[in-house]
Amino acid sequence: MADSRDRWFRHPFIMIEVKGLTKTFGAMKAVDNLTFTVKPGMVTGFLGPNGAGKSTTMRMILGLDRPAAGSALIDGKPYSELVQPLRTVGALLDAKWVHPNRSARAHLQWMAASNSLPKSRVDEVLHLVGLSEVAGKKAGGFSLGMSQRLGLAATLLGDPKVLLFDEPVNGLDPEGIHWIRNFMQRLAAEGRTVLVSSHLLSEMALTAEHLVVIGRGRLIADTTVSEFVNKSSESTVRVRSPQLDALRSALTSKGLTVREDGSGGQKALLVVDSSTEVIGAVAGSEGIVLHELASQRGSLEEAFMKLTGDDVQYHAESVDEMKGSL
Ligand SMILES: Nc1ncnc2c1ncn2[C@@H]1O[C@H](COP(=O)(O)OP(=O)(O)O)[C@@H](O)[C@H]1O
Ligand SMILES: [Mg+2]
Repeated sequence: MADSRDRWFRHPFIMIEVKGLTKTFGAMKAVDNLTFTVKPGMVTGFLGPNGAGKSTTMRMILGLDRPAAGSALIDGKPYSELVQPLRTVGALLDAKWVHPNRSARAHLQWMAASNSLPKSRVDEVLHLVGLSEVAGKKAGGFSLGMSQRLGLAATLLGDPKVLLFDEPVNGLDPEGIHWIRNFMQRLAAEGRTVLVSSHLLSEMALTAEHLVVIGRGRLIADTTVSEFVNKSSESTVRVRSPQLDALRSALTSKGLTVREDGSGGQKALLVVDSSTEVIGAVAGSEGIVLHELASQRGSLEEAFMKLTGDDVQYHAESVDEMKGSL
């Protein structure tokens, strides 16, 4: 304990700093001049549609891929120059790999030994991820959720202050997702620097406090979750009236932006960036009858699609192209 506090004191704030990071595969820029910083004490969501370049970026942060340009520093150094990398950074990129015939405990003991980490830490991390009771069972028979916990246990062996998780909830059931989400938040609350990738904004909105959003390898947004949602999802008020034309004129004469909305089979108007109070007052002053007055905010997924629309489109097309060539 004294030891970990000591280290904590010497490394109170470990940041990940990505600057101008670029990676090309042939002519394609998988990561394109990406710059962002990941701060300690909170979960940072790394969000982007499939193929956006999240895994490639994480691999470069971990020194597994060489950038064409730019740099990725952890605590001011490239990964390769960290003195004891596993005591600084824990990463879970591909959870499923464990020796199938080894027990969970034996797998972790082997990892600890091969990385000069204390054997005593193995039972601690098994306890942290809730695998103590199955520690002696063969890891090959583990469910995806249990494998994921075992992967997490391995990343925590060196008690690292920086954690990287690449799409950790993919394929998990709701209970597993909930557990991982809470776990990542707990790690961040302990002051660690946590970067977690996902292609699902709804998931990130529940897990992360800060978002780094990318599309086609480029930075789209670097902001808090709440700001991202407020900025990118349009707020509208849906209003129905038997006097729709009169209502439209009254609203536009007040300078409001109005669109037709045929969804739901009934003609309605969508008023952009206004409020039910304002619209109700306009209708009241003109003696216009209202049948519906409802404010609506775009969903998180809509906000994400709006920002990364081009990229999603691009991938939808390429899927069609693939089908065409089959
Ligand atoms: N080893 C590789 N060789 C060629 N292209 C790759 C390689 N790895 C990734 N890519 C391409 O780089 C882009 C980004 O991929 P990736 O980083 O895996 O995205 P994400 O993790 O956001 O889904 C994709 O278009 C992908 O096909
Ligand atoms: Mg990926």
